[in-house]
Amino acid sequence: MANQPSHGITKQAQVVVVMVPFPAQGHLNQLLHLSRLILSYNIPVHYVGATTHNLQAKKRVHGWDPDAAANIHFLDMEIPPFHCPPPNPSAKIKFPSHLQPAFNASSHLAAPVSKLLRALSCKARKVIVIHDSLMGSVIQEARLLPNVESYIFRSVSAFFVSLNAWGLEGKIAKDNEFFPRDIPSLEGCYTAEFSDFLASQFINNQKFNSGCVYNTCKLVEGAYMDFLEKQTAKEGIKHWALGPFNPVTIPERSKTKRFCLDWLDKHARNSVIYVSFGTTTTLDDEQIKELAKGLRESKQNFVWVLRDADEGDVFNGKGRRAEALPEGYEDSVDGTGLVVRDWAPQLEILAHPATGGFMSHCGWNSCMESITMGVPIAAWPMHSDQPRNTVLITEILKIGVVVKKWALGDEIVTSKIVESAVKRLMASTEGDEMRKRAEEMGESVRGSVAEGGVSRMEMESFIAHITC
Ligand SMILES: *[C@@H]1O[C@H](CO)[C@@H](O)[C@H](O)[C@H]1NC(C)=O
Repeated sequence: MANQPSHGITKQAQVVVVMVPFPAQGHLNQLLHLSRLILSYNIPVHYVGATTHNLQAKKRVHGWDPDAAANIHFLDMEIPPFHCPPPNPSAKIKFPSHLQPAFNASSHLAAPVSKLLRALSCKARKVIVIHDSLMGSVIQEARLLPNVESYIFRSVSAFFVSLNAWGLEGKIAKDNEFFPRDIPSLEGCYTAEFSDFLASQFINNQKFNSGCVYNTCKLVEGAYMDFLEKQTAKEGIKHWALGPFNPVTIPERSKTKRFCLDWLDKHARNSVIYVSFGTTTTLDDEQIKELAKGLRESKQNFVWVLRDADEGDVFNGKGRRAEALPEGYEDSVDGTGLVVRDWAPQLEILAHPATGGFMSHCGWNSCMESITMGVPIAAWPMHSDQPRNTVLITEILKIGVVVKKWALGDEIVTSKIVESAVKRLMASTEGDEMRKRAEEMGESVRGSVAEGGVSRMEMESFIAHITC
């Protein structure tokens, strides 16, 4: 096989791919999925990161045939230890600032990545670096090597990238064909420190860029992919919508045996709302109580993943906060509600026929998984690109309702608001229409990765481009 180390880079014909993910779960996961897709074209893939983050990516992958990951070369790099404070549930800005030391520490990958690129560049005909847009400072060596090309992976929606490219402040104040009038402000989306971090990565990105890849599908965001293509036509930068990166069906043998899936088996089609806010959200106790009450009062079935945000090193967890649920809560929802506290197989839950809605923070990884599995969203954005993804989901694609309006700021979301959003999505004609649209979109997105489908064609065009 072409991707075994002993034969990997012999002969002149070889192209190798080096993935440089950003060390946060939604990012690690997306590039791991993309690695699997590229590997299926018999192109060797090196996935580089700190030892702990590589392990995190591997341990949490789900939805694949386990053999598929075996041929990815994980290159575990030593970086100096970094501080791993717990998240702060009462921070006004929900951005996971406790991860900043881990983000900063990733700059130490620059030296080992340079060494790797130099070594590969001598052996391979062409080295293709695909790096997260937040890792621009790590791949600077690539510029100096003649047979290395670098592609930026944009981990967010094409809609979000388009908005940034367009420049919110001046130009979209008035109606136009692409963007709705009321775009949520970026205020409260990032910490000042992370904004500086972003800026420093993007300066590096601009210097050396052969193209951009997205975890999206033209059937979902075709208008924004066209928009981006036009924006950068002069510079000749190409954009590929290679998504969904996640598998579109769960192979039988990779299915996990989990209690929450058995629990779903006992419930009727589309009767359960799955509630999870990803790996970078920590709610405070009062908010947890309001959410708990709202879910119960909605009288809808739910599976709720109640976790704090990841720490910088997920294997170093100092334990979760004390129990914040109201006394006796789980007994009071027995049979209708299930609270899960550990890692949940999200893609499998979304693919389960009983799941008919997803209350989500609208991180892009979660949005793509939900879209793929045809599940409409109750959107409760927390930070980063999430408030704007909410606009895409609810106003443009019309496959979801808003739980929390971004303009509410750091006000608590009351149980009444939760209850009414859940009922609107799960038990109303309007909700049924959204579900129908989401199901139809899911079906076409799943079809897009099959032979002749639009995402398959994008992937083939990208593969042809990097191997020519
Ligand atoms: C991260 O790096 C920036 C820039 O060097 C520095 O100002 C900041 O204090 C660092 N933050 C942490 C939490 O290490």
